[in-house]
Amino acid sequence: MIERGEKLLKGLILCAGKGSRLYPFTNNRPKTLIPVTNTPLLQLSIMKLTELGIDRIGIVIHPSQETDIRGQFGEGEAFGVAITYIYQHTPKGIANALKQAEDYLAGEPFLLLLGDNLISAPLSALKNDVEHGGVQASLLLAEVEDPQDYGIAEIQDSRIVGLEEKPKHPKSNLAVIGGYAFTKEIFGAVNEITPSKRGEYEITDAIQWLIEQRHAVAYHVTDQLNIDVGTKERWLLANRKLLDAGTCKIKVHDSVRMERCTIVEPVSIDKDCVLKDCRIGPYVSVGAGSRLENIQIENSIILNGVHMKDLSFPINNVIIGEHSVVAGVLIDKEVNKP
Ligand code: G1P
Repeated sequence: MIERGEKLLKGLILCAGKGSRLYPFTNNRPKTLIPVTNTPLLQLSIMKLTELGIDRIGIVIHPSQETDIRGQFGEGEAFGVAITYIYQHTPKGIANALKQAEDYLAGEPFLLLLGDNLISAPLSALKNDVEHGGVQASLLLAEVEDPQDYGIAEIQDSRIVGLEEKPKHPKSNLAVIGGYAFTKEIFGAVNEITPSKRGEYEITDAIQWLIEQRHAVAYHVTDQLNIDVGTKERWLLANRKLLDAGTCKIKVHDSVRMERCTIVEPVSIDKDCVLKDCRIGPYVSVGAGSRLENIQIENSIILNGVHMKDLSFPINNVIIGEHSVVAGVLIDKEVNKP
């Protein structure tokens, strides 16, 4: 509940990463524009903030991404928010991205989301911590199977006593999963730390600095869905999980034309698709304007404007790039008879 006259905090979404593990899909599009259930990741992050009433959002981008991101999101009018674009010219880490946003955040508390992470847990507790709880940082943590790939928290007597980025010998399996709230003290940290071995200014080091300076750092552990959509496998997994959750806006768009098709839900089929003699699903997203004929496909993502025709074998677990043409050969069974 937003009280009258209460000043809402700002949101910050980091989008400047290259997404090299998702090449070739991110060769010429920012990672945060890849769609999950036909909704760009960035839109899902914006929705995460607007559900808390946040309507001023800073988006940190690399200048090369501006045309694409601004082209889809403009100044945020369509989403009921005011977007300010902030540049990070070199990919020097999350703490460095924060530094670029210092002026925009103007000393106010804020929520930070990593634009490639899909988080289901509500962020209201984090927001409350920095607004009314007297803490300088609040983090969302989740148990993970591969702690070496994350920032990992060490907890003693229900308090965070340390954080380590991608530790070889993790002290726990509780990972920081890309949802944070901070007060302005984080900028003291961001300006003090030095680059890590991978050459980045790590947000984990900045939070560790806060802990060492005896600032209050809170955390909340969630068991709800969270996925770092950094690889093709995790992109497919995210698509599958969101389809399963049944929250996606588009199931089968009204404009879709179908003849002799079997749809096995859950699926998301976007506008202006034409489907003939297909079996689609379960767990398939089909991007707008695609034409599919005589194919069987499950657990896959088809991006916009794809043409697929006459594949004699079922397709599973694939991502088909925008405007691809995939055609098989129709085998005339009569002619091939011995
Ligand atoms: C980043 C953070 C890490 C965090 C992870 C969440 O890692 O540095 O602390 O746990 O995001 O996805 P990166 O994506 O840069 O490997």
